Amino acid sequence: MKVNGTQYRTIWPETNSPEIINIIDQRQLPFAFVIEQLTTVSQVVDAIRDMHVRGAGLIGATAGFGMHIAACCAPDNRFMEHMQNAAKALGESRPTARNLKWAIERVMKEVSTQTSVSDKRRAAFSTACAIADEDAEFCKKIGEHGRKLIEEISRRKNGQPVNILTHCNAGWLAFVDYGSATAPIYGARDAGIPLHVWVDETRPWNQGAKLTAWELQQEGIDNTLITDNAGGHLMQIGMVDLVIVGTDRTTRTGDVANKIGTYLKALAARDNNIPFYVALPSSTFDWNLDNGQEIPIEIRSGGEITEVTGTDASGSLQTVTLAAPGTRAANYSFDITPARLVTGLITERGITAATPAAIAQLFPEYT
Ligand code: MRU
Repeated sequence: MKVNGTQYRTIWPETNSPEIINIIDQRQLPFAFVIEQLTTVSQVVDAIRDMHVRGAGLIGATAGFGMHIAACCAPDNRFMEHMQNAAKALGESRPTARNLKWAIERVMKEVSTQTSVSDKRRAAFSTACAIADEDAEFCKKIGEHGRKLIEEISRRKNGQPVNILTHCNAGWLAFVDYGSATAPIYGARDAGIPLHVWVDETRPWNQGAKLTAWELQQEGIDNTLITDNAGGHLMQIGMVDLVIVGTDRTTRTGDVANKIGTYLKALAARDNNIPFYVALPSSTFDWNLDNGQEIPIEIRSGGEITEVTGTDASGSLQTVTLAAPGTRAANYSFDITPARLVTGLITERGITAATPAAIAQLFPEYT
């Protein structure tokens, strides 16, 4: 996607120095566009854990490049031991997004099939690049399939703007390019369909306010920021036609883990008869899980709730306290939306019902 007219992905190897991996430090957005360079596994672990990068797809792509960095640094005589240590450290950086372990396992598998260390290094790099390229390509396809849903609603509304509500950031910044929930929006925009996006602010990290609203502005998409609790009201008064969110992990039965608050949006959508879609590339499915309640839910520091970071009038970054000193805060970062509340899953292969049989029909090789 474009930032101030220049085309970027969210992660890329440095030209002529592929052992250096560039990321956009998302903690600084939307106030500053800062590119950070990663050269060690511990930098990659910190970048994922401390959310310089975030969003399931990008977490996976970053872990893939983390394994490539590990391969660059590993001594020849202890290569696989070094790779296993890196896999463990990267795998523990965040618990909920399936893409993280999926990417690590994919690089490890390709590395293990090679015999010489130089071939193993080459395999780590080419697999990390393939994961990133595939992520972008799959999101683009999600956009092509999901666009048709928006087109259909637009037809029913006789061309009146389609109002779409989204939660957190399942946009370009959560992937390598395009995004999952945003890709159908970009597709519909390209097809000339009038639309408007309600952006949940997404406390406590404010990914909606800081990232999604900024991303949509960069793309010239009409959008309005709302508080996390406003969605139900807007649905009741007929201001939402469609909900599209992303997911960090979806079971083979269609239960969806996504940013905390997603479940409440799904309940409100069901009560108001509004379609609730989840957009995801296949790398986000957990083919081993039958029940969403088995998905590990990240619990982050309570300080992320009691403090908030933004800029003051001079533009410098400030963190201020919202709650009384000593306030206890519990920061559950994700929740589970049961499959029965999901109208459909928008994947790179098409749109499917959130049922085990329909998912298996679309992805027979995994089930
Ligand atoms: O804590 P984050 O910012 O990594 O959470 C991101 C989300 O919840 C997204 O909606 C999710 O990753 C799905 S889109 C990749």
